[in-house]
Order: sequence, then C-alpha cells, then structure tokens
Amino acid sequence: MTLTYPQIKECIEDLGSSFYLFNVNRLRDNYQKINESFKSRYQKFIIGYSYKTNYLPHLCKEMLLLGAYAEVVSRLEYDLAIKIGVPPKKIIFNGPLKTEEDIETAINNESILNIDSLYEIDYVVDFCLKNQFKQVNVGLRLNFDISNDGVSTIQEGFERSRFGICVSNGDLEYAVNKFKELENANIVGLHGHFSTSDRKVETYKNITKRLCEIAKQYIGDTLEYIDIGGGIYGELPSSFKLNTPTFDDYAEAVCGIMNDEYGKKEITPYLILEPGNSIVANTFDFIAKVIEIKRIQDQYFVLIDGSVHNVKPTMHKRNLPMRIIRQESKVNPHVTYNIVGYTCMEKDYLAYDIDGELPMKGDYIVFENVGAYTIVFNPPFIKERPGIVAYDDDDFFVVRKKESFKEFFNEDLYVFK
Ligand SMILES: Cc1ncc(COP(=O)(O)O)c(C=O)c1O
Repeated sequence: MTLTYPQIKECIEDLGSSFYLFNVNRLRDNYQKINESFKSRYQKFIIGYSYKTNYLPHLCKEMLLLGAYAEVVSRLEYDLAIKIGVPPKKIIFNGPLKTEEDIETAINNESILNIDSLYEIDYVVDFCLKNQFKQVNVGLRLNFDISNDGVSTIQEGFERSRFGICVSNGDLEYAVNKFKELENANIVGLHGHFSTSDRKVETYKNITKRLCEIAKQYIGDTLEYIDIGGGIYGELPSSFKLNTPTFDDYAEAVCGIMNDEYGKKEITPYLILEPGNSIVANTFDFIAKVIEIKRIQDQYFVLIDGSVHNVKPTMHKRNLPMRIIRQESKVNPHVTYNIVGYTCMEKDYLAYDIDGELPMKGDYIVFENVGAYTIVFNPPFIKERPGIVAYDDDDFFVVRKKESFKEFFNEDLYVFK
C-alpha cells in the first residue's frame, strides 16, 4: 500500500512528524501462507509467534485471533500474553532466564515450558516434590551440532550456540535421569531453535531429524511435540536480490521427516514452528519527515525526524527498501545523498549513498520492511518513541501513541528530588 501525501498529513496530526505504519492485512497473509504450507503437509501443526520480534499488543492480539500460540522468552512477555488474553495453555515459555516463580506459574497454568538450562530442572524437581498429586509436563531445549562439514552456521560466526541442554556431554542424560526419578513428571517435548546466518532448508531438515532421533532414544510414548524454533526466511523485498527458500520449501523438508517418522503411528506429536521475522518484517514501514537538506563539502545529507534506531537498531550498512513521498511534483537535482538521523551520533545513518533525485524539505521518506526487532529493540534515546498507526482494509487507527515527556520520564520510576 502506498500512502499519499495528504494521508500522511492526516496520520501525523496526532503523531508529530514520524511514525510507523503497520499493515495488518499483510500480517494475516504471512500467517496464513506459513500455516497453509505446513498444515497441508502435516496436520498437527502449531505456529508459536515469537513475541520478542515485535510485541506490539495490537499485533499480538491479531496473532491470537488468527490461531497462533504465543512464544515468550521472559516473564514480561508471558504476562503480556496473559493480558492480551492468550489462554495459558497456548503460551510457549522459552528463554535462558526463568525464576523459580516463573517455572511454578508456567506449570500451574499448564503452559508449554521448554527448559533451557539444568538449573531450571532443580526448580521443577522442587515443584514436583512439593506437589506430589500434580502431573508436571515439560519440554527440553536441546543443543547439538548443526555445522555443515565442520563449518558453523550459527549467526555472527559463533562456533556453537550457547542455548539449550548439551546433547554431547552427558547433560541430556543427566536431565532425562532426573525426570525418571520423579513419579509425577514427564518430558513431553523437544525444542531446537538455532539462529543461523543462512536459514537453509537443509538446516531445518537436520534439526527435525535430530530431534526425532533423540525423541525416539530418550522420550518414547510421552512425546507430545517437536518444536523446531523459528528463524525461517519470510518473503523478502525484491530489492534484496536474494533467492531465498519459500515457506513450501521449508514445509516440504520438515513435514517430510515428520511424516516419515510418525506417519504410521497412532498418536503423532505436534510440530511447532516459532516464526518471528517471517511473520512481521514486511508488515511495518517507518515514515519520517525531511527536516533539512545539508551540503557538507561535496556531500549531501538529508536530515529526517528519525534515527537509525527506528529502522535498523543493529546498524548494519545495507540500505533498506525505501521510497519518497513528495509534497510537490517539481523535478529536483539528481545527486548522491545520505539520509541521517536526529541523534548526535556520527554513525546515525538511515541510508548511505543513494543515487537519485534529491528529496526536499517537507517530503516524507518511507523505510520498508522494518517490522522485526525494531520497536522492541530501540532505546528511547534523546527523543520520545514514535507512534504507530495500523491500517486494516481501508481503516487507519493509532495503536501506539507518540510517547510524551511525562511517559518518558515516568515519575513512578524516576526520582526528581
Ligand atoms: C527460541 C526462539 N524462537 C523463535 C525465534 C524467532 O526467530 P526469527 O525471528 O528469526 O524467526 C527466536 C529468535 O531468536 C528464538 O530465540
């Protein structure tokens, strides 16, 4: 959807000169495409939407209405899912840091609890001993080697992932034996999320295969789910010029293994996928007003009411897909320019070396594909957080107001005396 200049003017009346635009229809489309690809091949399929990727409450509510479970990695996210109305049994509680109280809450609520480290097992054991008449079901997040011919595929070039219970050093056996000693606890699921740099279909095949093998060896009949985590590619803008796998490609590989393994069994486990990026990245634009065109020596700098934190908090140097909404149709000089932000950091570049017709003061720049790891990740730094407008069919409405001074310097938090 392309906004016109008057539509933008209308949105910003409430929001100042920059805001996010959330495309609710595209969110539904992403969910339905992923769901259809997997469910058509393996019926017992669940999407657990990864809250941390973008936990805008309106978006999380929409995911609930679509049928997604909530995948959370902290008590804060868990409590958000409850506030949104997610039935506790549809919350998947992952993450490396859980308190004893978090574990007790998840067990009492019968949420899906995936244990990441051995210390969590001590909390589960204590709970089981204190609540002998309660049946406790948990999953284990596992850590195993997914390198290709000895070359690591883990993001940022790390040699190994730091998450989950190690399969190769005896920790898995230790965990399994701990559960065997308990009369009222079972391991019912295995989880294997790996953040890889290439998001290859082959990796998902390996993860699924490995989880199924381990389930056969250690879990047996109590197995209720195989959770392969998130990390798949979504539909990317054509300007990225990347030939990435489709949802069908991933589904064909993963469901093929699930069907080989469980197709002939009477009771089949659920397959859980925890997508984040692929559900939300292309559902947000960031729109910011051009405040000034500056020339420094032979370079042009377009200063906007936005910051690199709003569009790519990781500050990578690739330019996002962008367009300019001009207030006048006059022809401007064709030059090379940079788009820079309002902070005082030299590196606050939203885009580098763009070759094209120079924007003018009062125009708006639209940065596309900014739905993942942006609004959850950017610090409120120097300026209040911008508002968010949703559009759903032909309807526009504010789903997050622009932050005010009062909210930024919340007097319940800060001491002013
Ligand atoms: C456990 C877990 N599940 C799901 C995800 C979502 O991954 P993505 O946004 O790449 O789909 C992550 C991201 O790091 C994760 O840690």
